[in-house]
Amino acid sequence: MYIKEIEKLKKQKNAVILAHFYQNNEVQDIADYVGDSLALSKIAQETDADIIVFCGVYFMAETAKILSPNKKVLLPKQNSLCRMAQMIDYNELKEFKEDNPDTMIVTYVNTRANIKALSDIIVTSSNAKNIVKNFPNKKIMYVPDKNLGTYLRHITGQDISVWPGYCYIHDLLTKKEIERMRLEHPDAEVLVHPEAPLKVLLEADFVGSTKNILDYASKSEKKEFIIGTDKGLIHALKKQNPNKTFHLLSKGLNCLNMKRITLEDVYKSLKDEKFEIEVDSEIQKKAIIALDRMMELS
Ligand code: 13P
Ligand code: SF4
Repeated sequence: MYIKEIEKLKKQKNAVILAHFYQNNEVQDIADYVGDSLALSKIAQETDADIIVFCGVYFMAETAKILSPNKKVLLPKQNSLCRMAQMIDYNELKEFKEDNPDTMIVTYVNTRANIKALSDIIVTSSNAKNIVKNFPNKKIMYVPDKNLGTYLRHITGQDISVWPGYCYIHDLLTKKEIERMRLEHPDAEVLVHPEAPLKVLLEADFVGSTKNILDYASKSEKKEFIIGTDKGLIHALKKQNPNKTFHLLSKGLNCLNMKRITLEDVYKSLKDEKFEIEVDSEIQKKAIIALDRMMELS
């Protein structure tokens, strides 16, 4: 019943539904676009829809609003927060910036608008390596994901310090789990998201964003994969590769805040135009500079 109503409202209101790969399967299936943080940001920037219903966590909908300030951006569940985005304090970063004027602040998209406003450039998991390589002689502070920052330092050899934030589902992955899963599935390739700790990433056959993992598995000649990221991605992997087999690396790979949005929430969000994302105009003006720099280099 919700599916038909959602389709009707979408047409009536010229709305588009964007969903991240970690959303519940039925929400992914109703979306116009399913993607990673970078792809969804680009669509939000380019769409001619009047309303964007963003099925993801708060920072994603907020990023869409910064990029498209004249559109109405809705998050179907009010308190769907990314826990990593809450691990950085505005005043602490401001103080760091004042004390270290020569350090470039490279900020993961998984942050709130006020943190983006303090940043020199934004990155996502799919463009971080290429963007950071544009600044080989810069001292960099990477915020707030210590794991992705450490990985970037490892693969680029650049002068990168890291903020102590992390993603609570990826940070728990261990090398032992990979070893155990490889014994159970000796023909499988291991594909892991870069929010995992370095010692885990070094054991993987491939490291990449959700979209990079999807593309890699689809192109690979292998038939079996062990997936080191949220279980929501398995839905898209299976849909695109019905003849391949996917095993989740660990049971803990389930971002609960990403799973709070239901079809009923999407329907109510469209019907009542809730919950609308607002961004302070001064913060928006500063944050969009850092986001535009990312878009230019992506
Ligand atoms: P992606 O940009 O790779 O989809 O990652 C977003 C995220 O929150 C991963 O935990
Ligand atoms: Fe944030 Fe981790 Fe959830 Fe991604 S998986 S939205 S980083 S808490």
